[in-house]
Amino acid sequence: VSGLADDAGRGAGDLQQYLRSRRDAVDAALELHLPAESVEPAVIHRAMRYSVFAGGKRIRPVLALAAAEAIGADAEPLVRHAAALELVHTYSLIHDDLPALDDDDLRRGRPTSHVVFGEAMAILAGDALLTEAFSWLAVPMGSMPAGRQLRAIALVAAAVDSRGMIGGQVADIESEHLAERETSRELLEERLDFIHRNKTGKLLTASVMLGGLLGGASDDQLALLETYGGAIGLAFQIVDDLLDVEESAETLGKTAGKDLAQGKLTWPALRGADAARAKLGELLDTAVATAGMIGGPLNYLGGIARYVCERRS
Ligand code: IPE
Ligand code: IPE
Ligand code: MG
Ligand code: MG
Ligand code: MG
Repeated sequence: VSGLADDAGRGAGDLQQYLRSRRDAVDAALELHLPAESVEPAVIHRAMRYSVFAGGKRIRPVLALAAAEAIGADAEPLVRHAAALELVHTYSLIHDDLPALDDDDLRRGRPTSHVVFGEAMAILAGDALLTEAFSWLAVPMGSMPAGRQLRAIALVAAAVDSRGMIGGQVADIESEHLAERETSRELLEERLDFIHRNKTGKLLTASVMLGGLLGGASDDQLALLETYGGAIGLAFQIVDDLLDVEESAETLGKTAGKDLAQGKLTWPALRGADAARAKLGELLDTAVATAGMIGGPLNYLGGIARYVCERRS
C-alpha cells in the first residue's frame, strides 16, 4: 500500500491533484533534509534554501515518482532520492543565471541567487546543492540491492556531467550568435539538437529512469521509460524556448525574450514557432504511446507528457 495518497481511477481532471500531491511530498522531503538556515555557515544554507524554495514545478522529482508508480512500485521509499533531482536542477539554474552565463536577475519570481547573495555565494550554493544531491541519492534504501542503487546514482551523474548537462550548457554558450556566422543549416540543426538533448533532455530522462530503477523496473520497462524520457526531455526545452518568446516575465517568473537578445540557438529562432509546435506534437505522440505501453494502474506518465507540452509557465 502506497504511503502517498492513491489517486488512481479518479479521471483525467485529477492530473493536477496528482501533481500537487507528489510535489508536496517532494517539498516535505526537501524541507526535512536540507540543512537548516541556522547551521553554520548560515549564509550558504540560506542561499541554498532561498533558491530551492522559491517555487518551481518540481517536474524532475515528480517524474521519478510517477515512473516508479507507473510500474507498480510504492513511491514513498524513494521520495528523498527523487528530491535529490531537484537539488541538481536548482544548482543548474543558479549557475545558469550567473553573470558569466545567461546573466539573469530573475528566477522563480525572485531576484536570482547572485543578486541577493553575491556571486561567490551563488557559485558555492550551486556547488553545495550538487554535492548534497549525491549524498541523498546514496542513502541506503532498505531492501534495494546496492548494485541497482549504484546503477541509478551513476545514471544521474552521467546525465549531468561534461558529456551531459554541462556539455549542453557549454555548447549553448559557445553557440551564442552562431546563426549569424554559420551558413550550414545542417550544422546548426545538429547543434541545436545536441544542446537541447544534453542541457535539458538528459536530466529529465535520468529522472524517469531513476524512478524506474529504484522502483524495480524490468529491462523492457526501462527501455520504454528511456524512450518516454527522451521525448519529453526534448519537448521540455522546445517549450521553454517557445515560452521565452511568447510569455511575459510575470507569467514565467524569469526574464522573457532573452534568448533572442542573447543570440541563443533555439527552436523558434532556427526553425520557427510552427515547426516547433509540429515537433512538439510528434514528441507528445511518442511519449503518450510509450506511456501507454507501460500501463500500470497508477500511470500518470501520459498526462504528465501532455502537461509538459502544453504548459504556459
Ligand atoms: C527551467 O526548468 C530550465 C530548463 C531546464 C528549461 P524548469 O522549467 O523546470 O524550472 P522550474 O524548476 O519550474 O523553476
Ligand atoms: C537552462 O536552459 C538549462 C539548464 C539550467 C541546465 P535555459 O538557459 O534556457 O533556462 P532558462 O530559460 O534560463 O530557465
Ligand atoms: Mg542557459
Ligand atoms: Mg538561462
Ligand atoms: Mg530558456
